Amino acid sequence: MSFLGIDLGTSGLRALLVDETGAPIGSTERHYDVSHPQSGWSEQDPADWIAALDEAVSELKAAFPQFAGLKGIGVAGHMHGATLLDDAGKVLRPCILWNDTRSHLEAAELDATDQVRSLSGNIVFPGFTAPKLEWVRIHEPDVFDRVAKVLLPAAYLNFYLTGDHVADMSDSAGSSWLDVGERDWSDVLLDAGHMRRDQMPRLVEGSEVAGVLRADLAARWGVDGSVTVAGGAGDNAAAACGIGALNEGQGFVSLGTSGVLLAARDGYRPAPETAVHTFCHAVPGRWYQMGVMLSATDSLNWLSQITGKSPQTLSKALGKNLRLPGKVRFLPYLSGERTPHNDADIRGSLTGLGAETTTEDLTQAVLEGVAFGLRDSFEALKATHATLDRLIAIGGGTASEYWLELIATVLDIPLDLPAEGEFGTALGAARLGILAATGAIPEHVITAPVVGRTVQPNKEITVEFQIAYEAFRAAYPAIKSVQ
Ligand code: XUL
Repeated sequence: MSFLGIDLGTSGLRALLVDETGAPIGSTERHYDVSHPQSGWSEQDPADWIAALDEAVSELKAAFPQFAGLKGIGVAGHMHGATLLDDAGKVLRPCILWNDTRSHLEAAELDATDQVRSLSGNIVFPGFTAPKLEWVRIHEPDVFDRVAKVLLPAAYLNFYLTGDHVADMSDSAGSSWLDVGERDWSDVLLDAGHMRRDQMPRLVEGSEVAGVLRADLAARWGVDGSVTVAGGAGDNAAAACGIGALNEGQGFVSLGTSGVLLAARDGYRPAPETAVHTFCHAVPGRWYQMGVMLSATDSLNWLSQITGKSPQTLSKALGKNLRLPGKVRFLPYLSGERTPHNDADIRGSLTGLGAETTTEDLTQAVLEGVAFGLRDSFEALKATHATLDRLIAIGGGTASEYWLELIATVLDIPLDLPAEGEFGTALGAARLGILAATGAIPEHVITAPVVGRTVQPNKEITVEFQIAYEAFRAAYPAIKSVQ
């Protein structure tokens, strides 16, 4: 028996084949582009996702005979994106992504609408799905009139795989159309966004059966029997499943394109005033909360582009030992910010530059700015009474040893690094495929990884970083008033 976890990411699709215990058999990856037709816009062609999936499957099928015994699939996707389909299932326009802020006016209006925060449990951020549809209604009315279904990216892959419009709770929670406490579409929220229930996909839990793989795909993929497709998940809920974060006190810090600090919660405790996101988990009866910063590794990638040095080279140049906070300060708001500011217009800044400032100083400032941004999310989560005594660190940015120790010191908690192997979003998705296909108990499948090592905060300089964090906090109102 084998199971497939699909991680439909912002920069590419990763497909992971595992056995019935969740142990990896093999994986592959395909990349695609994000287009930015205007400043603050961010779009993708869903046809690129399908092409990436087809190629990834062909490769796995050719490389691993176990692929023929495929029994279950789980899809995790980047959240909030609006894939608009007409009544023939045709995609009407490029998918507007999670980090697209064009609909900030529509978001503010929805956010101020009676009952919207209380039912959705969240601020309506410009990146969420409902304001995108409001933007399309106002700016592209011909498209809006033809929308028969709106699917999140993972649900669009579910549609490709099963032929059915079906989405999971964790991803749907980021739409601003879901009553997140009740785990159902809300007619009040749909009305507020000028949408109808029949335009929404059917809802299932992430670990439940969404459907079966279409017969024509099963034949093309050369699989033997019926293949169950799980509800799947938004990428952050799937990553939580990958590292076994189901219960209070468990969570992760993810250093990817976006920076996420996530805490599993044993109940529904919305706190929109903190700008923390409160979403359904991918298993029934559970929720999670997270703070999201929009430009984490993206900030270092930006410095890399303008200096012509790779992110690895930049980070390595700082050496091994954590330096005292630098004089240069970076505010990491290259694409605006969600937690804690909910500000789509704000942009980043570098201050404290002198004639003596070096590339190393800039790198240090960027890594510190992102660490302080994560501390903002940490403080926001603490305000919701989430207990986070330690976190698992995941994501591409964890390759930087300097950054890890810096974040551990700024948050003043230990960071656990999983031992070599699979533990991320694709594994979480595969685990949902196992649960849906076998009916296993979530706690038996969604387990914590073996910790390879732990990065401790540098206690000798936590006070200096506390002072620097306070200065970082004070800088936001100052740039806000200038912009
Ligand atoms: C979460 C969010 C991002 C995306 C991209 O609210 O927008 O983390 O899911 O990965």
